Amino acid sequence: MKKIFWKMAVVFAAWCCSTSFACPHNCTCHLNANSTAVVCSSLPIEEFPTDIPTNTISLSIEFTNLSNIMSHHLERMPELKELHLSGNKIRFLPSGFLKDLPLLQSLDLTGNQLRDLPQDVFCCSALENLVLKGNQLLKVNSSLFHNLNNLTWLDLSDNHLESLPLTLLKDMHNLKIIDLSNNKMEKIPNGLLQFVPQLERLHLNNNKLSTMEAQIFNKMGNLTHLFLQENLLKKVPYDLLQNLKSLVSLDLSDNGLTSIPQGLFDKLERLGESEGLGLDLSNNPWNCDCSIKYLWQWLQNHKEKVFYLEMIRCATPEPLKRRKVFSLSEKEIIC
Ligand SMILES: *[C@@H]1O[C@H](CO)[C@@H](O)[C@H](O)[C@H]1NC(C)=O
Ligand SMILES: *[C@@H]1O[C@H](CO)[C@@H](O)[C@H](O)[C@H]1NC(C)=O
Ligand SMILES: *[C@@H]1O[C@H](CO)[C@@H](O)[C@H](O)[C@H]1NC(C)=O
Ligand SMILES: *[C@@H]1O[C@H](CO)[C@@H](O)[C@H](O)[C@H]1NC(C)=O
Ligand SMILES: *[C@@H]1O[C@H](CO)[C@@H](O)[C@H](O)[C@H]1NC(C)=O
Ligand SMILES: *[C@@H]1O[C@H](CO)[C@@H](O)[C@H](O)[C@H]1NC(C)=O
Repeated sequence: MKKIFWKMAVVFAAWCCSTSFACPHNCTCHLNANSTAVVCSSLPIEEFPTDIPTNTISLSIEFTNLSNIMSHHLERMPELKELHLSGNKIRFLPSGFLKDLPLLQSLDLTGNQLRDLPQDVFCCSALENLVLKGNQLLKVNSSLFHNLNNLTWLDLSDNHLESLPLTLLKDMHNLKIIDLSNNKMEKIPNGLLQFVPQLERLHLNNNKLSTMEAQIFNKMGNLTHLFLQENLLKKVPYDLLQNLKSLVSLDLSDNGLTSIPQGLFDKLERLGESEGLGLDLSNNPWNCDCSIKYLWQWLQNHKEKVFYLEMIRCATPEPLKRRKVFSLSEKEIIC
């Protein structure tokens, strides 16, 4: 009897003090019946806290001086679903970083100092949201995201990426959003998007794209939002958008476009369908010779779908410089 009592007391003590009641120094712990959420933010932390409850399902260590995190730091929290590590000084992640976190759904590493990632760093987790925004990634290994079959949102924005491997998105059957904005990409490999026909939002704005291959969006029947603004596009193929049957929002502003090829927008049945969505063509150097005719006619027929209509202006020829394309008269467009 006594023995059993002591056994139970030990079990109880282990349970009480290692899970529910321990909380890392200066962190906040929110206790639920079976789980804990831990927030350690804006603290002068440099090392990973050691005494995090084992039933933690959400851990935030943000805006600290944490620079180093290893797999063994995480192995004590097998129930973790969310890991928020933004605004730290992390430079490096180890191989197999997530191997002991089978339930992890969201990982946010925004605003760290990652330059390079080992190819199996995220391997085999059930991640749905992965945010690597605002790091210093120059390139990514083609197998970096393989086996992340449940990923729906991938954010690689605000890095230094110059190119992407062709098979990067292989097996991502659930990917809905990919954000590649604010990088240095000159080209999207033809075939990159063939693996993600279910994609809904594609952010490619603020890169150095100067050309687009006609086939790159061929399989994108579910794409609703396409962001191509702030690139170096001078022209696009006439059939670039032909299969984008679901597209409601397209941004081509702040490029070097001088004309729109005949027919480019003709297959976009849903463009501007919802309030506040549509087409942005502002801040391009339009050449208002005969080649502007298709755009001019399209604007006459669809002006309600267009943002900043008055900022679609001729750059050439000289007599029409700074005129609004929309308000040219048919006679002024000389063919
Ligand atoms: C806690 O766990 C028990 C048994 O595993 C379960 O019945 C209960 O619903 C859980 N409570 C919460 C809030 O998840
Ligand atoms: C951490 O807690 C100690 C008291 O234990 C306190 O003096 C200190 O100001 C706290 N630091 C921060 C950054 O909150
Ligand atoms: C991080 O370290 C720097 C320099 O040592 C210090 O000025 C800053 O206050 C620290 N930040 C936090 C959140 O403790
Ligand atoms: C993805 O999610 C499904 C349930 O939605 C789950 O059965 C499956 O194991 C998950 N895949 C991975 C790689 O964890
Ligand atoms: C990706 O990583 C593997 C293993 O480290 C290596 O063999 C391969 O060359 C890498 N691929 C690229 C494109 O760097
Ligand atoms: C688009 O999504 C629907 C379901 O919403 C699906 O049935 C269809 O196959 C998808 N199309 C493509 C090209 O993936």
